[in-house]
Amino acid sequence: MSRVLNNPHFDGATFFIRTYGCQMNQHDAERLGGSLKACGATEASSMENADFVVFVTCCVRERADERLYGQVGSIKNLPVRSDSPYGKRYIAVGGCIGQRDGQSLIDRLNHVDIVFGTHNLPMLPQLFAHAIEYGGHQMSVVASEKEGASPFDLPLDRPHPWSAWLPITSGCNNFCSYCIVPYVRGREISRPIEDIISEAQTFVNEGTKEITLLGQNVNSYGRDLYGSPRFADVLDSVHATGIKRLRFATSHPKDLTDDVIARFGTLEHLMPALHLPVQSGSDRILEAMNRHYTNKQYRSIIEKVRKTCPSIAFSTDIIVGFPGETESDFQQTYDLVKQVGYQQVYTFIYSPRKGTVAAQMENTVPQDVIRDRFDRLVELVNDNVHAINHSWIGRTVEILVEGPSKKDPRMIVGHSPQNQTVHAKVPATASLRSLEGQIVSVHVSAAKTWYLIGEIV
Ligand code: SAH
Ligand code: SF4
Ligand code: F3S
Repeated sequence: MSRVLNNPHFDGATFFIRTYGCQMNQHDAERLGGSLKACGATEASSMENADFVVFVTCCVRERADERLYGQVGSIKNLPVRSDSPYGKRYIAVGGCIGQRDGQSLIDRLNHVDIVFGTHNLPMLPQLFAHAIEYGGHQMSVVASEKEGASPFDLPLDRPHPWSAWLPITSGCNNFCSYCIVPYVRGREISRPIEDIISEAQTFVNEGTKEITLLGQNVNSYGRDLYGSPRFADVLDSVHATGIKRLRFATSHPKDLTDDVIARFGTLEHLMPALHLPVQSGSDRILEAMNRHYTNKQYRSIIEKVRKTCPSIAFSTDIIVGFPGETESDFQQTYDLVKQVGYQQVYTFIYSPRKGTVAAQMENTVPQDVIRDRFDRLVELVNDNVHAINHSWIGRTVEILVEGPSKKDPRMIVGHSPQNQTVHAKVPATASLRSLEGQIVSVHVSAAKTWYLIGEIV
């Protein structure tokens, strides 16, 4: 299945990939790493030791954007490693900023050799080969989703075998008014279900225990395939490969259908965790965000899912300070968060993104008001999450072991079905390394806001 056309040879060369942004970018970085390895390059431990440096960038909020320009700027004077086959370090910037800025990024940062867009992943090895051949000739290649090539059949370089991301769609058609993603990722394209099943089966055969299906809005899978198959069919088919843990992200509430909800009751290995971004609790703001659901509709979905799967843990994303957000709008968000009782809430301060509809809106909220609302929301979330985690003390959870805990090297860390981080003591007789990638039972003895602590039973 893996393919890199006309592989150039980079024997003796090293690469380093720095990734920002969402899981889709992390997954793209695995494909880029896989392609460079297929050309004979090896992964460097740091940027200093790399002949090829690749930035896979994100522009969803202003902070990520600024950081990238700073980071790329700061490596301008980094010395070339002594045994570099080229006597030069080549720098490539890809991902969402690459797609958005193209040539203008080269104009701004004149030590960047290559800019490539989100639809040009398969070209990266050729672009490096070209840069080496024509030294000093900078290039920008940015295709649209129609002209570009799919990255899904590039070789994968996964950091570990036991869990895997599996993209099922690319792009997004929703145009939420604040969001840049549809502009930098293009229209939604569903990957053929045969490819998804075949990749899932390969993962299972390789010993993978957990698969997370990825898409900006997995629930609209199949809309471009004349309506069939749909997301519920993807869930059934991937589940049938025998995977031990199945997850997916992200769901748009307007597209979460009853047949998908029903799978939480019928598919044994579908994990009881659902990330369902709400963004705001105010109908007025939801409408201005172009989200196509109301507070009431959202809560009724939550109830339905809970009825189907009482042990489910919800997580969400919230934007504070969208243009026109009043104290009363914010209060509705606050109340919704309190009512739902999320296992995890990702809170963001609204960041205007040039080119989006919301960036033109007047009536912006003053930064100190946003900050105050944001802090109140974070405090509520922390209290909620702590209370939920506390209720797990005395219970036993199964975790997929990811490796030694950073808190204490004699402990392991992993995630529960509800996606809680769990640190656990290992019996003196067990070797810690042999537990990596295994699913083990942990008796929970203590709870913090961001994790549980226990012992393996
Ligand atoms: N497709 C996914 C992820 C989108 S980006 C989804 O729809 O859920 C992840 C989150 O970033 C969004 O859910 C939103 O909460 C946040 N986000 C997107 N654009 C933003 C902006 N301009 N300012 C602040 N937060 C933003
Ligand atoms: Fe952005 Fe909305 Fe698409 Fe998510 S669904 S990527 S928030 S436009
Ligand atoms: Fe960022 Fe692009 Fe993902 S803008 S959030 S990396 S799709």
